[in-house]
Amino acid sequence: METDFDPAKLFKGTLDLIGPKKLSGVEVDCVYAENNFMIHCDQLQLQQVLINMIINAIYAMERNEAGKKLGFYLISAAQVPDDLFVIPAGLNVRGKAKGDFCCIVVKDNGSGMDQETQAKIFEPFFTTKPQGEGSGMGLSMAYGIVTNCGGWIAVESSPGKGSTFRLFLPDIKKPKQNS
Ligand SMILES: Nc1ncnc2c1ncn2[C@@H]1O[C@H](COP(=O)(O)OP(=O)(O)OP(=O)(O)O)[C@@H](O)[C@H]1O
Ligand SMILES: [Mg+2]
Repeated sequence: METDFDPAKLFKGTLDLIGPKKLSGVEVDCVYAENNFMIHCDQLQLQQVLINMIINAIYAMERNEAGKKLGFYLISAAQVPDDLFVIPAGLNVRGKAKGDFCCIVVKDNGSGMDQETQAKIFEPFFTTKPQGEGSGMGLSMAYGIVTNCGGWIAVESSPGKGSTFRLFLPDIKKPKQNS
C-alpha cells in the first residue's frame, strides 16, 4: 500500500530487522534526520529494498579483514555531487530540481564491481553468488519499486574500492496549492 511518509521512519527498524548477528564485525555508520522529507511509496516494499542492499553490502564485505564499514544515510540530493545526480532518460520527473529529491545511500568497503557487472546488476536473475545462494532478484525488484515511486537507483563502484548505491526519491513535501 502506497502512503506518504518520512523515509527516516524506515531507518530505525531496518537495521534491527537485519539483526546483530548478521551485522557482527561490521562498523555501521547510520545518519538520518527525522521529519525532513516526505515520499510517496510502499513502506514495506521500500524496506525490503534497503534490506537487500544492506545484505548485499555485508556479503561483499565478507572477505574484508581490514575492517568492514557500512554507511547508511538519508540526505538531500542537493548534497550529492552533480556528476552523480543523473536523471535517467525516460523518467518523467516533471520539472523537479536536484533539491526536490531525497537520497538514501548504502555504502560499503567491500569487493566492489567492475563495469561489466555493474551493467547487469538490475537485470532479473543476475547474480554472482554461488548457485543456490542468491536468486538475483534483489536489485531487479529494487529498481522496479524505486521507479514506481518516481525515483531511480544509481551505483558507483570499482573493483576493490567498495560500492555506493544511491536511491533517489522525489520529496513531495510541498505546500498544498489551492485551486
Ligand atoms: N554492494 C555490492 N557489492 C558488490 N557487488 C554487489 C553489491 N550489490 C550487488 N552486487 C552484485 O549484484 C548482483 C545482484 O544483486 P541482487 O541483490 O540483485 O541479487 P543477489 O544478491 O545476487 O541475490 P538475491 O538478492 O536474490 O539474494 C550480486 O550477485 C552481486 O554480484
Ligand atoms: Mg541481493
